[in-house]
Amino acid sequence: MTEFSPLIIGAMRLGNWGAGFSQKALQQFVEGCIELGLNTFDHADIYGDYTTEGDFGQLLKETPSLRTKMKLITKCGIRMVCNNRPENLIKSYDTSKDYIIGSVEKSLVQLGTDHIDLLLLHRPDFLLDPHEVAGCFDSLQRSGKVLAFGVSNFSPAKYELLNSFFPLVTNQVEISLLKRNAFTDGTLDQCIRHKIRPMAWSPVGGGALFKDSEDPVMKRIHKAGKELCEKYNCELDQLLYAWLLLHPAQIIPVLGTSNVERVRSAHEALSLRLAREDWYLLWTAATGQEVE
Ligand SMILES: NC(=O)c1ccc[n+]([C@@H]2O[C@H](COP(=O)([O-])OP(=O)(O)OC[C@H]3O[C@@H](n4cnc5c(N)ncnc54)[C@H](OP(=O)(O)O)[C@@H]3O)[C@@H](O)[C@H]2O)c1
Repeated sequence: MTEFSPLIIGAMRLGNWGAGFSQKALQQFVEGCIELGLNTFDHADIYGDYTTEGDFGQLLKETPSLRTKMKLITKCGIRMVCNNRPENLIKSYDTSKDYIIGSVEKSLVQLGTDHIDLLLLHRPDFLLDPHEVAGCFDSLQRSGKVLAFGVSNFSPAKYELLNSFFPLVTNQVEISLLKRNAFTDGTLDQCIRHKIRPMAWSPVGGGALFKDSEDPVMKRIHKAGKELCEKYNCELDQLLYAWLLLHPAQIIPVLGTSNVERVRSAHEALSLRLAREDWYLLWTAATGQEVE
């Protein structure tokens, strides 16, 4: 099975949905991450209104040696309404065989690669037919165009259903102090049972956890965070990553920063181990009540 780095670099904000990196800045960022041993990049066809894969692919065309040093994840299945997809009349999901294969072919061209290391179905399509998807995954795997498959934002029941037709390697879901469903709805338990590692998107709440706020939840988290940052001599971002990393499901945070120094800071958090009581201190701050 393909091994992914212990922190994954999210590409959603690297292009025109965020940093708007020039090719030079993108190269510096990507090389900086790889130097830290963080070699896995998380894309989706839709990022940047269907342009960010192409920006990244341009870099790989100019510096082909980079491709061998990295793992590429991308996603498909959301049909977004935007100028680059005039055929999409309303936002919808599509996991039909033809759509998935067409999307993979486009991603291969955009990313300038002959294979995708991991393809995720971006959202649980209500019309998903597991027979059809499994057949499609099988043919993509046999052709060597996609090495492994997973899903994103799937409930445990939907994961179980598709996984019974085709072996999945991850469920990428939102997990942070602000979004804790995965701890209670069976998602993380299921990952442990299937010996797969979940990926956590928006691990620092999309940046919200760093902003001054009068919101009582934020105030409690900041108070507890300050206390623990002093105890562990660390920064708040490191504490937030360490909180995810302590869970036995071996969560892999998908970082959204486009700042290589913040990637370095996150990397340092890999060696920060919180005491169990401190994990619960943050949980309690986030929920506003002590556990029963
Ligand atoms: N599967 C899905 O449905 C799904 C959905 C959303 C996202 N994703 C994936 O998950 C990745 C991460 O999502 P995300 O961007 O929402 O994650 P995030 O890491 O929670 O948020 C990133 C934001 O937080 C800011 N930030 C990070 N560290 C900071 C710090 N120390 N101080 C102040 N601000 C800080 C970043 O700004 P700077 O850039 O300035 O550091 C950026 O704006 C995406 O790139 C994408 O690959 C997947």
